Amino acid sequence: MSSGTLFVTGGAGFIGSALIRLLIAESDWHIVNIDKLTYAGNLESLASLSNNSRYVFSHTDICDRSKLDCLFAEYKPAGVMHLAAESHVDRSIHGPADFIETNILGTYTLLEAARAYWSALPQKGVSEFRFHHVSTDEVYGSLGAAGLFTETTPYRPNSPYSASKASSDHLVRAWQHTYGLPVLITNCSNNYGPYQFPEKLIPLVLLNALQGKPLPIYGKGDNVRDWLYVDDHARALLMVFERGVAGETYNIGGHNEKTNLEVVDALCALLDELQPRADGRSYLEQKTFVADRPGHDRRYAIDASKIERAIGWKPQESFETGLRKTVAWYLANADWIEHVITGEYRNWVKQNYLDRIVA
Ligand code: NAD
Ligand code: DAU
Repeated sequence: MSSGTLFVTGGAGFIGSALIRLLIAESDWHIVNIDKLTYAGNLESLASLSNNSRYVFSHTDICDRSKLDCLFAEYKPAGVMHLAAESHVDRSIHGPADFIETNILGTYTLLEAARAYWSALPQKGVSEFRFHHVSTDEVYGSLGAAGLFTETTPYRPNSPYSASKASSDHLVRAWQHTYGLPVLITNCSNNYGPYQFPEKLIPLVLLNALQGKPLPIYGKGDNVRDWLYVDDHARALLMVFERGVAGETYNIGGHNEKTNLEVVDALCALLDELQPRADGRSYLEQKTFVADRPGHDRRYAIDASKIERAIGWKPQESFETGLRKTVAWYLANADWIEHVITGEYRNWVKQNYLDRIVA
């Protein structure tokens, strides 16, 4: 199955926009991007597709069942790639309500809309349809110094964000088990790359560094994350969607374990090389240790052998090549950054896009 229409939820976000750019460039799928445009949704990240005949945007909340029903009836998709979510751990600590609403109730609503549509499909459509739920390695909890998350690691989410994602994973799995809806679940490690909202570590450090602000490092900076370049993730999602076995879970990771301190040091070194400070001193001087995140997970690391074996996917970028591309992108895209910092990106859709929005 590789043609027809796909729904991508959360397509105006960081990973969703990378996925849509890839789907348009390297597949034959027609795409309906379903996004509520929260603070994290930025259609400027998809500006290159504004006039593409294989792409439409629908300004829709995944909690809105009647609107979802209309979209399914109108576009008759061959599948759904579900990325819409509240995605930032710190925000979930300060205000969990939106995470419960979108990640749990929104996923439930989307599952029910998909099930109603799918169960009325002709036989071929029933077996070929896929509901691909894009999730996180954070559902597995925190690792000690050794070990890797596999697809059978028991769930032990620690933050409101990861608990809401774990809940949605369980709902998706149950919809397959109980109703037979053909689902796929992927659990991925930390993504980085172009177009990431500057609340997450890498873009936050980059932008703060360039603005001469402190680079906040939680605790001692010795927590470990397993970094994956976003385009590698997008490629993995497309491959799992087209080749994955319904009912299966696939972990996705980049084999790039780094402490936060190593990440910040690497970013400072790249900036020192590519855009040295005016005073000739190093960006390293801006490093600042701050209070730790409550309940901060110690270490994440993914065993990605199943997706390599079963799907044939491997990351193309090392941390070094991916980080260099990322820094170069942020340095070359001052407009995108400026619009995010000033909030102007929220008006971008009105100024550039209104006539292209469906529903
Ligand atoms: P993001 O925060 O950049 O984007 C989320 C998108 O979802 C935004 O465009 C937002 O407008 C949209 N959205 C939020 N609530 C919505 C709602 N109720 N209805 C419709 N749209 C809504 O997130 P991201 O980093 O691109 O992550 C995408 C998905 O991948 C999430 O499900 C996340 O849990 C998962 N994930 C992220 C990472 C990572 O490192 N960023 C890693 C693994 C998995
Ligand atoms: O593992 C996958 C997850 O990765 C995704 O599911 C989440 O959506 C995504 O946000 C990310 O979660 P993290 O909490 O790991 O990402 P974040 O960029 O917020 O933080 C990365 C690490 O850096 C973490 O150990 C906390 C630390 N940190 C973060 C910020 C924002 C700092 O030290 N300083 C900071 O200012």
